[in-house]
Amino acid sequence: MSFKAIKQFLENDQRISRLVELNIEDLDPGEVVIKTQYAAVNYKDARGVMGVGKVIGRFPCIPGIEMAGTVTESSHPDFKPGDLVTVQGGRDFGMRRDGAYSEYVRVPAAWVGRVPAGTDPFDIVAMGLAAYTSAVAVVEIERRVKTTDGPIIVTGGTGGSSSFAIDMLAGLGYEVVASTGKKSEEEYLKSIGATRVIGRDEIAGGDKPLEEQRWAGAIDAVGGAPLDAVLRSAKKHAVVCAFGNAASETLTTSIYPFILRSVSLVGINGNHPVPQRGKTWARMAKGGDLHPKHLHQIAYPIKFENLLEHCAKVMQAGIRGRAVVTF
Ligand SMILES: NC(=O)c1ccc[n+]([C@@H]2O[C@H](COP(=O)([O-])OP(=O)(O)OC[C@H]3O[C@@H](n4cnc5c(N)ncnc54)[C@H](OP(=O)(O)O)[C@@H]3O)[C@@H](O)[C@H]2O)c1
Repeated sequence: MSFKAIKQFLENDQRISRLVELNIEDLDPGEVVIKTQYAAVNYKDARGVMGVGKVIGRFPCIPGIEMAGTVTESSHPDFKPGDLVTVQGGRDFGMRRDGAYSEYVRVPAAWVGRVPAGTDPFDIVAMGLAAYTSAVAVVEIERRVKTTDGPIIVTGGTGGSSSFAIDMLAGLGYEVVASTGKKSEEEYLKSIGATRVIGRDEIAGGDKPLEEQRWAGAIDAVGGAPLDAVLRSAKKHAVVCAFGNAASETLTTSIYPFILRSVSLVGINGNHPVPQRGKTWARMAKGGDLHPKHLHQIAYPIKFENLLEHCAKVMQAGIRGRAVVTF
């Protein structure tokens, strides 16, 4: 039986992704074979598919780091055909081992998590790494910043992860300010929980190393100049959680926010396999206080055949929310 997948090849030093026909034996070995129903499109996936940076570390390789579907074969006692499962955040999945953009995937059992009974697999993938990483940052804010301390700024507001951060923070009672490069999306950002929407260039009042104190906390998805602006305009004792590099992987800033305003910069890595997501994952489940209230406004389906075109748009910051590939 043959099936379709997107595979990335290295040809004359160029990273090129194309649609291919494969058989199960062509996939990397693993104990569990899963028929893919849904796969996520993270910023990292779009970079991988488009050959930007060095996301894919082995060639050829199928990109895509998150999926959900039904087990068709298993040589591991924990899983049997018919089980509804998800793979998210397996260390090499979709980077150094064949990943999610394939009608079938084959992986080690240790990377496989169960879709909880009563949960739609679309919702699991729609939340995925984006919502989980945001939740880890939100928990850090919740631990150290009171709702009465002042507004929390979320940068890259219309992005998948940032949209979830806005939704969750608002749900916990924080005043949320979204910064965005797309002011035309103000209505969307307010509809998912932002009380105010500002442009990327309006985060700080000016260019000085310390500007007017505005933010009691921040969740930053973009790095670079916007993160520097957040730090320069953060309030005394503010907590700034950084997890992204959509603007730049380089941060040039001054020491003053740290030594004069005791601002904390906290690095967030949400890339934990599902079986290790614990308490935060449980809070994100239906009925939990971190379950995104606007999940179906933030996430939307796209067809597998439109994936390459969609990834090109992601690299131009031309999307909002979080796409879920349907197979
Ligand atoms: N550390 C971790 O574990 C982890 C986990 C998940 C994601 N991430 C990182 O978080 C970031 C967001 O991921 P995502 O999947 O949510 O991506 P996404 O849905 O593609 O969103 C990225 C958003 O960033 C903003 N942006 C894009 N290019 C920009 C630029 N040149 N300057 C300033 N802002 C820009 C855009 O929002 P606006 O147009 O609204 O400004 C865009 O919608 C990525 O860097 C990703 O690698 C890290």
